[in-house]
Amino acid sequence: MLKKIEAIIREDKVNDVKEALKEIGILGLSMFEIRGHGRQGGITLAGRSGTYQVDMLTKIQVNIILSEHNLEETIEAILRSAYTGETGDGLIFVYPVEEVIRIRTRERGHEAVMYPGDIDERKGLAAKA
Ligand SMILES: Nc1ncnc2c1ncn2[C@@H]1O[C@H](COP(=O)(O)OP(=O)(O)OP(=O)(O)O)[C@@H](O)[C@H]1O
Ligand SMILES: [Mg+2]
Repeated sequence: MLKKIEAIIREDKVNDVKEALKEIGILGLSMFEIRGHGRQGGITLAGRSGTYQVDMLTKIQVNIILSEHNLEETIEAILRSAYTGETGDGLIFVYPVEEVIRIRTRERGHEAVMYPGDIDERKGLAAKA
């Protein structure tokens, strides 16, 4: 089973999260800048002419397609590396994935999300996957 992690994290946690993922052998991912708000509906900032409300904050979305057997370890790495304890630390969404196809080789599914030196290869799972 393939899963998709969609993690919404703080901009200033991007490097920590990238490092933590690399450390456990999660090598394939994409990241992009998004704008949104959570349960606080934004933040109030102090400006020259008083306070004003910023309702959409810039966050980074990290997408990872991975095998289900690596899901919990990967979630744990994100939880550890993206945490400050303050509001706005973000959220992690998990979805089922229908299919992945590497265009060059036509590999599908699990095979299409394997990389040299990745989390599976380190665990010796590459052969039996
Ligand atoms: N229900 C949702 N659906 C989609 N995106 C969301 C949802 N809730 C929050 N987000 C996105 O997640 C980002 C981070 O939200 P945030 O960390 O403020 O979550 P929260 O639920 O308000 O938790 P906290 O109380 O810790 O702040 C938001 O800026 C927004 O982009
Ligand atoms: Mg919030």
